Amino acid sequence: MPKPALILIHGFPLDGSFWQPQVEGLSSVAEVLAPDLRGFGTDRRELPSAMSMEAYADDLRALLDGRGIERAVLCGLSMGGYVAMAFAEQWPERVQGLILCNTRSNADTDAGKTAREQTALDALDKGAAVIARAMIPKVLSERTRREQPDATARVEAIMASQRPEAIAAASRGMALRADRTHVLRNFNGPALIITGSDDALMPLPTSEAMHAALPGSRLIVIEGAAHLSSVEAPEQFNAEVSLFLKQLA
Ligand code: MLT
Repeated sequence: MPKPALILIHGFPLDGSFWQPQVEGLSSVAEVLAPDLRGFGTDRRELPSAMSMEAYADDLRALLDGRGIERAVLCGLSMGGYVAMAFAEQWPERVQGLILCNTRSNADTDAGKTAREQTALDALDKGAAVIARAMIPKVLSERTRREQPDATARVEAIMASQRPEAIAAASRGMALRADRTHVLRNFNGPALIITGSDDALMPLPTSEAMHAALPGSRLIVIEGAAHLSSVEAPEQFNAEVSLFLKQLA
């Protein structure tokens, strides 16, 4: 039985290196790809002022085509989850399984859209380091920050190294996204939802709503983790993903 392809889709404002604990921990059970979304990390493709979730998804489709991968398990965290759902809407037949982490299927409120534009302007005016500093207490639990200073510093450094234009384009793109709860209702492959008990950005009811919409999904709540559960609790996160991948076979 060949190993399944596992595409890890990072959140905002991160890049593929965010998934280092998963690339290391899951390569024995999957062909793991952790691409940089357009404009992030080392990616230098042309960048529009707003990158829609559909456009990121189309980039991933091109990546799969280029590698001759017909079907893959998509694992998206937060913004990466929005991209995974946009992909599943367009190409459901290419999704072997869906892992949605610390994300939600509904669209932004008007107030949320206004805040996105402010984030975009702040990134362009003040730079990525200011955005990174402000985000760390929101995305990592108090316990993670206290007990895992190296992981905390690594995440902040990844955020601070992003191009302001990529941050602005992603923030504006997230504001444009549609409600995709119907995508979950119509998805009939295997699905796993992972979140953290302390995720203030995506409180538990958002994951429970996705769980209710996704037929046959499992919901895992990692105690003590906040918004970046894959780096806050990598062993538990990897164990759940690994179990999910084994059950595909
Ligand atoms: C993320 O982690 O990707 C963002 O927090 C998502 C969002 O702001 O909606």
